[in-house]
This record gives sequence, C-alpha cells and structure tokens, in this order.
Amino acid sequence: MRRIVLASAFVFALVAARQRAVLHPPPPQVPGGPTFSKEVVRIFQNRCQTCHHPGDIAPFSLMTYADAAPHTDAIKYETQQRLMPPWKATPACGDFADARVLTQDEIDTIAKWVDNGAPQGNVADLPTPLNFDGGWALGQPDLVLSYAEAYKPPVTGDMYRCFPIPTNLPADMYVSAIDIKPGDRETVHHVIAYIDTTGDSQKLDEADPGPGYTSFGGPGFTISASSLGATTLGGWAPGARPVVLPEDVALSLPAQSRVVLQVHYHPHGIKTIPDQTQIGIYYAKKKPKQLIYILPLINQDFIIPPNDPSYKVPATYTVGWPAHLYLIAPHMHLLGRKMNVNATLVNGEKKCLINVDDWDFNWQGQYRFSEPVPIPYHTKLSLEATYDNSEGNLRNPNHPPKAVSWGEQTTDEMCITFLGVTLDGITLGQSLPKTPVFTQDR
Ligand code: HEC
Repeated sequence: MRRIVLASAFVFALVAARQRAVLHPPPPQVPGGPTFSKEVVRIFQNRCQTCHHPGDIAPFSLMTYADAAPHTDAIKYETQQRLMPPWKATPACGDFADARVLTQDEIDTIAKWVDNGAPQGNVADLPTPLNFDGGWALGQPDLVLSYAEAYKPPVTGDMYRCFPIPTNLPADMYVSAIDIKPGDRETVHHVIAYIDTTGDSQKLDEADPGPGYTSFGGPGFTISASSLGATTLGGWAPGARPVVLPEDVALSLPAQSRVVLQVHYHPHGIKTIPDQTQIGIYYAKKKPKQLIYILPLINQDFIIPPNDPSYKVPATYTVGWPAHLYLIAPHMHLLGRKMNVNATLVNGEKKCLINVDDWDFNWQGQYRFSEPVPIPYHTKLSLEATYDNSEGNLRNPNHPPKAVSWGEQTTDEMCITFLGVTLDGITLGQSLPKTPVFTQDR
C-alpha cells in the first residue's frame, strides 16, 4: 500500500488591496432603478459580507452604503468578470452545494445600480444587518478545541504553523460538521484540520520551540492516505460556511487522536497579534450508516521542465469498489494553473467532476457535491493537472525557472485531488474491502 505525505505549501501571497479610484463624476441618477438599500445590500449580504466585513480577510467592508460607495466601479468590474466572489470551480462542471457564484441577474442588478450613479435609496428599505460578532454559525459546537497557548506569527512573510491538540476522547466519535474560528481574522488565511492517531505531531511540537511547529508542506507527519483511515476533518478558508454532511454519513474521529490545526498566516506587514484559532466539532446526531473516507488521486512521478508554460501531468485510476462521491479537493502548489477531473463509466458516459481553470493557491478549498455522485465498479477516474513553469507565471518561485518535481517544499510541486467517498454496501462496523478502492493505472 502506498503511503504518501499529504502536503500543501508556502505561498507568495499576491493578494493586494488594489482599489480602483473613481476618476469620473457619477452619472445623474435615474429614479426607479436598483438602490443600495433595497436590492444591492441584499446581494452583498448573501454573497460578499462573509469576507467583506471589518476585521476579515477582504481589504474593505461592504456592510454599509458608506463602506461600498468608494468601490462601486471595482464592484461592477469584479462581479462582471466573475472575479468576485472568489470561486474557482468552473460553472459547467460539477454541481456543488453552497457555490459562491452570482446569478446573471445579480450581476446585472449590480451593474445597473453602478451605471445609474449607485444611489443609496430609502434607508427604510434596509434589511436587518448581518451580525459577525463571532458566534458559531451552527450554534455551540459539541467540542471546541484550541492549542493551549496563543502563537504570534511573524509580521512579514507567510507562515504555516501546526498545532497538535489532544482530543482525549475515550471512544471513536462521528463528525458531521466542523467550523473554525480564527483568533486573528486579519492574518489567518486558511486552516486545515488533520487527524494524528500516532502521536508523531506531539514529537514535532516538542522539537520546535514556541507553540506548535512550522510545517510548510503537509502536517509534517506521514498519514496513510490510501489506507482507509481517518486523515482529515477538512478545512476552512475565509468566507467558507460550515458544511453539514447528510445525516447518514460522517467522518470518523478516533479515540485518543489528536487534531492538528495547520494554520496559514498571511500577515499584511504592519503588525500581528497573538492567535489562538479554535475548531468547533459537531458530532453526528445519530450513529451514521456509513463513514466518509478521504482518498487521493495522485501522481508523484513527474518533472515539469523549465520555461514550459503549459506542462500537463495526468493520473488515471480504476475503481475497484463501487463508491459515492461527496467531497472533492484539488491540490497543487505555485506552478499549478489548471486541474480537471473526470469519471468515465463502463458504458462510456463521461462525468466532469471538477474543473479549475485558474488555479490560485490562495483559494483552494473543499467542494461538496449537491448530491453524492455514484462511482460504479470499473469507472475510470482521470485527472489532468497543468503547470506553468515559465517566467510569465507571476507565482513562479524560481528565477530563472528550473525543473520541478514532487516534493514538500515551496519550490516543489504536487498533483493530487482528494475525494471524500462512501463505499457502497459497507455500513458502519462492517469490515472494509480487501481490494483497493482505487487502483492507479500504469
Ligand atoms: C471568500 C471571501 C470573499 C467573498 C465572498 C467576496 N470577496 Fe471580494 N475580496 C476578497 C479578498 C480577499 C479580496 C482581496 C483581493 C484578493 O484576494 O483577490 C477581495 C477584493 C475585492 C475587490 C477589490 C478587487 C480589486 O483588486 O480591485 C472588490 C471590488 C470585491 N472584492 C468585491 C466583492 C463583491 C462585490 C463580492 C460579492 C459579490 C465579494 N467581493 C465577495 C474576498 C472575498
């Protein structure tokens, strides 16, 4: 059985709060069009404010008219170009729950509002403001874990810090949702919650001075991701709403395991404050029928030649045990530009599972299908990753570009898509199939 090291990487954040100045006088306002108070703020509440509120990751707030007024041209542009809200899965592929995608109607309403001088309208039309005072979105979790001490990240440069937290659980538990509350919302860029059943993360912590330990790659310890075990509870990125799994399925959190929070800090170069990020865990309301296993489609054997702007790395697998697909999460580093994953059934029918055509390390995430996708026996799963190893790739960490292959470091690459699946016919407590669920084609 192939053991792999789950990994992610250091990233140069190109996130800059570029704000377009309004250089021309606003056009005269025509009565009767959309107003901020009536239509537009409702779109902002549904689609923008999770990130665009004071103290969160976006560079300005969109809570009030005064907040939005200096940015109207940029708002029109970013929404028309579908750059905001950030959502990397292309619309024609995969049907995802909670997709952060504006409807054409919403885009047109915003454009009309801006073209008409962005009127405030009647404040009596305003909805009840959303409250971001730090409550848990799903109510009080069953278990809240955080590292014993706060950690102050460096003021400049990205940092990946891992915090192992003992669960002290006397028995295996079943998890249907997690939520993560960053201590310092302005610098916590994203968080991945790994599960450590060996205690290795504790040793890494002891070997590294200060709270937690630095690990730019994965969590630094080896997880047997291709065996059917607990590997991760998922992750969190700004704007992510906690995903609640359907009642019949859950992730497992084994007795006495540690939850390792890997926090990506992206400081803005001015100051940082001590952070003590918390994870809230919601147990399944009743014993699930089936567990979700996280399995990778992966290619570790590639060399991306220097100066190639479009180098493709494939991976194909055959399904050896019928399954249902709930979650999908592509993963590459800084040279990654595209990731496309398809399932081809025995009858030739092809299903597009996910397509990311503008990969951005800063906006990787986990996608949940609206309905679980059946992956019958002998389905072919094929992944194609495309890398840009030219000078033209602004994120290229090597100047001049050099050959890059699989590895843990910033300057290395990865080619993985994680799939969260249930195994058909295998209910909780039943012994697991001896045949591999996915077999890599050679
Ligand atoms: C998931 C978090 C998130 C959501 C949701 C979101 N934004 Fe943003 N927004 C950001 C971040 C972060 C930036 C800073 C630039 C970047 O990282 O791409 C940004 C930047 C912007 C900018 C400035 C872009 C520029 O470079 O000039 C505009 C305008 C904007 N957002 C509008 C919106 C609007 C309108 C919505 C809702 C329709 C929205 N955003 C939803 C996170 C978000």
